[in-house]
Amino acid sequence: MHYRVIAPGALATVSLLLAVPAFAATYTPGAQGIGDPYYPAYGNGGYDVSHYDLRLRYQPVTDELEGTATLRARTTQDLSQFDLDFLLNVSEVRVNGVEAAFTTSGEHELVITPRTGLAKGTDITVVVRYRGIPSSKKAYGFTTWLHTADGAVAANEPESAWWWFPSNDHPLDKATYDVSVRVPEGTQAISNGRLRSTRSRGGWTTYHWRSDKPQATYLATLAVGKFDITTGKSESGIPIINAYSKNLGDRDAAARASVERTGEIADWLSGYFGPYPYNALGGYVPDVPTGFALETQTRPYYSPRQFASGPNPSVVVHELAHQWYGDDVSLKGWKDIWISEGFARYAQWLWSEHEGQGTTQELADKVYASHPADDAFWTVAPGDPGPDNQFDIAVYDRGALAIQALRNEIGDDAFFAVLKGWPQKHTYGNASVADFQQYAEKVSGKDLGPLFDTWLFEPAKPAGRAAARMSSLPAQPESWKQIEATNEVHKH
Ligand code: TRP
Ligand code: ZN
Repeated sequence: MHYRVIAPGALATVSLLLAVPAFAATYTPGAQGIGDPYYPAYGNGGYDVSHYDLRLRYQPVTDELEGTATLRARTTQDLSQFDLDFLLNVSEVRVNGVEAAFTTSGEHELVITPRTGLAKGTDITVVVRYRGIPSSKKAYGFTTWLHTADGAVAANEPESAWWWFPSNDHPLDKATYDVSVRVPEGTQAISNGRLRSTRSRGGWTTYHWRSDKPQATYLATLAVGKFDITTGKSESGIPIINAYSKNLGDRDAAARASVERTGEIADWLSGYFGPYPYNALGGYVPDVPTGFALETQTRPYYSPRQFASGPNPSVVVHELAHQWYGDDVSLKGWKDIWISEGFARYAQWLWSEHEGQGTTQELADKVYASHPADDAFWTVAPGDPGPDNQFDIAVYDRGALAIQALRNEIGDDAFFAVLKGWPQKHTYGNASVADFQQYAEKVSGKDLGPLFDTWLFEPAKPAGRAAARMSSLPAQPESWKQIEATNEVHKH
C-alpha cells in the first residue's frame, strides 16, 4: 500500500511509521528448491545453514534412528515459512526456541511455519526432533540408506542426507557438523572429521565426530556396524582414522593394503593440488553389497567390491583427489560434475604414471582409441551431461581426456599452476565449469573457448588425438585394470 504525501519533507517520517505493517506483508515462504535445473526440488531457498548438530541413536537390529538435529542458519529473505529436505517422522520443530507448525509436501519437503516471521539477515536456530526407519522411506521411488547385517550406511550422491538428517540438501549450502551417535556397546559409529570422544553408559556407546570445515550435505556420512579401527598420522601430520568392517572376509587384506596408504597418497596428491584442506583423514569399508566408492569428506567410503580382485590404491587416489576437487571446491550446480569427476579420474592417471604403469598421455590415447566415432560415449557432454548421464563413464574418461588436452594446449608449467591454484582460489566454496575455463584462461593467457567446447560440450568425437603429442598406443597399461575397477559405480 502506498500513500501520497504532499510535503516531501514528511515522506521519510511517514514511510518510517508505515514500515512495520508494510514489511510484514513482504514476508514470504522460502523456495522449495535452491534453483538447480537438474534437480528443481533439491535444497531450499530463504536461508543458509552454517552448522548441523546431530544427536542420534541407532538400533542396528530394527534400523530405528531417532534424534535431534539443531541447525544454525541465517535468513536470506524476509521469511514467513521455509522448507528442510527430510523423510523421517518429525515429532517437534522449534525455531529460536519457540514451537513451530510443520507439515510435509512433495517428495521430501518438511515445511516449517514459525510463529512469527523471520527478518532477512538474522541468525536462527532450528531444532527438529525425529525418528523413523530410514530403509523404509523412499523419495522418487528410491532409497539410498543401506541397512546392513550389523548396522547401516548413509553414503550416496547426489542424495543421502534426507534419510538421516533434515537439511538444505544441496552442495551450494555448505556447513560444519557435529555428529554424535549412540549405538549398542560393541558397535561403532563412523562419520566425518575428527573423533572428539567416545563414551559408554548403560549398554550404549556414544561416538562424537566433528567436521569443522564447510561440507556439502551429500559428503556427510554415517556408518554403524562392527568395525576394526586403525589410527595413524600422515607424514605431513594429519591424523588418520580408518575403519574396516569385521565381515570383509577375503577382501580384508586387499582393502587394508589400499586404504592404509591414505596418508601417503594424500601427501602425494598435495604435491599437485596444494595443502590438504582438512584436519582429518581416513577411509572406511563397510559390509555392503554395492560397488561404489564415495568421496565423503575427510573419510571416503569404499565398497568391499572395490577390493574384490586385489589391492586398489587407484580408487583411494580417486576419492582423495576429490577432497580438493569436489569437496573443498564443490560444484555450483549438478551440471558442473566435471569439476569433480574429471579431475579425480585425471589424478588416477597421474598415479599410474607415478607407479610406472602408463603415462597420462598413454591413458588418454587409450580412452580416445577405445571409443569409435559412432560410440554413444561421444554423445555425452561432460560439461553439461544432463541428470540422467551425470555419472556416465564419459564424465570421467572423456572428462580426463579434456584435462590432458588442456595440458597439451597450455603446456606443463601453466597446467600444473592451474591444478594447484584452483583449490586455493575457491577453497571451501563452489565453482562451475565456466569458472574453471576462466581461471585456466587467466593463468595461461590463452583463449580456451574452442578447446573446452570441443572436449566438454560437442556431442561428437573430436577430430585428431587428445593428444596433440603423438605417442604410440600402449598395449594395455597395468593401471587400466584398477581404473576399470573404479568404474563400478556405473553399473548402478
Ligand atoms: N562420486 C563417486 C565417485 O566417483 C561416484 C558416485 C556417483 C557414487 N554416484 C554415486 C557413489 C552413488 C555412491 C553412490 O567416486
Ligand atoms: Zn569420483
